[in-house]
Amino acid sequence: MIIDWREADHNQILDLWNRFHPERYKIDADILRINTVDADTFDWGASLVDVDFDGDIRAFISIKKAPAKHHKVGDPDAVHLSAIAFTDATHAIDLMSDAKKTLRQRGVTSILFGMDSRHFWPGVPTDVPQLNNFLTIEGFDLSGEYFDVERDLLSYQPPRPIPTEQVEFRVLTEDDARSLEKFFVREFPGRWRYDMMWKIEREGGFSGLVGLFYKGEVHGFASIQDSSTKFPIGGAVWRSDLGEHWGALGPIGVSQQVRGEGWGGALLAAGLLELKSRGTQKCIIDWTTLDEFYGKHGLEKSRIYRSAKLAI
Ligand SMILES: CC(C)(COP(=O)(O)OP(=O)(O)OC[C@H]1O[C@@H](n2cnc3c(N)ncnc32)[C@H](O)[C@@H]1OP(=O)(O)O)[C@@H](O)C(=O)NCCC(=O)NCCS
Repeated sequence: MIIDWREADHNQILDLWNRFHPERYKIDADILRINTVDADTFDWGASLVDVDFDGDIRAFISIKKAPAKHHKVGDPDAVHLSAIAFTDATHAIDLMSDAKKTLRQRGVTSILFGMDSRHFWPGVPTDVPQLNNFLTIEGFDLSGEYFDVERDLLSYQPPRPIPTEQVEFRVLTEDDARSLEKFFVREFPGRWRYDMMWKIEREGGFSGLVGLFYKGEVHGFASIQDSSTKFPIGGAVWRSDLGEHWGALGPIGVSQQVRGEGWGGALLAAGLLELKSRGTQKCIIDWTTLDEFYGKHGLEKSRIYRSAKLAI
């Protein structure tokens, strides 16, 4: 029987997620809730759950709408398959078929795997064969490659000293709010601005941001999260695998005007050192293609993902 997420037992959904995915992708109840039903892009009409006659969940899908009302997006008519798990693929095929019917009636033209606002997945993880097989059978086109990078920060030292002339790297405070807003509007007005403003509001402060300051103004930011974080985003969704003293860095970006001076690398170093001083051991940076940039700091490729899109 197909039901929606309102009627479903979310503990059972969590349990199925954790049985379906390998150990490194295990999540907890908070991560599930924050990135599905608590997200205002969660699609209550198209997200579905299949239960058997004993009330046991056999499959679920979570669909999220394009966050077009919050910021510019690539395709406002696309939706996101943000999560899926099943005991048998046939149950998931039934859910997808119902969801596609609903979505087509609304004018939706394509489904992207992951990449949603408050995502679990930057793409399809390459090491979950049953998921790859299912998406291929459904007709998703797989392309491109993204990955997470990780390292233990216990032994981390920056590859070169952090510059102090002309430029300053430090944790932001409330007094930097105006300069930060100006920076985001100018440099990263889309998803990063929205995500970071949401995060500052939810966490109740600026201590999750390390800034690059040039001539007294914000010219770069790195988001940092550790075990004290209330609303884990990005790579922090894999905190169970990263261990008790987990940390996450990213997104990270600097003004176009000051790129190529070694300051982006220094900002990364400042962010990693701040995490280290807060007690972080295993640190993740998710959803990137910059293996060289991160590799200079000893961060190594871990999880690998591919983009996937289905025209409906
Ligand atoms: C990525 C970014 C933060 C780098 O900042 P930057 O100030 O230009 O980089 P730096 O000058 O400090 O370069 C640091 C090192 O990384 C290398 N590097 C910088 N950007 C790189 C890139 N895009 N790809 C590969 N290597 C890169 C540099 O060659 C340099 O190497 P070196 O230390 O041997 O000289 C900046 O380009 C940026 O904000 N880009 C847009 C946002 C973005 O892509 N963020 C990362 C998302 S995961």
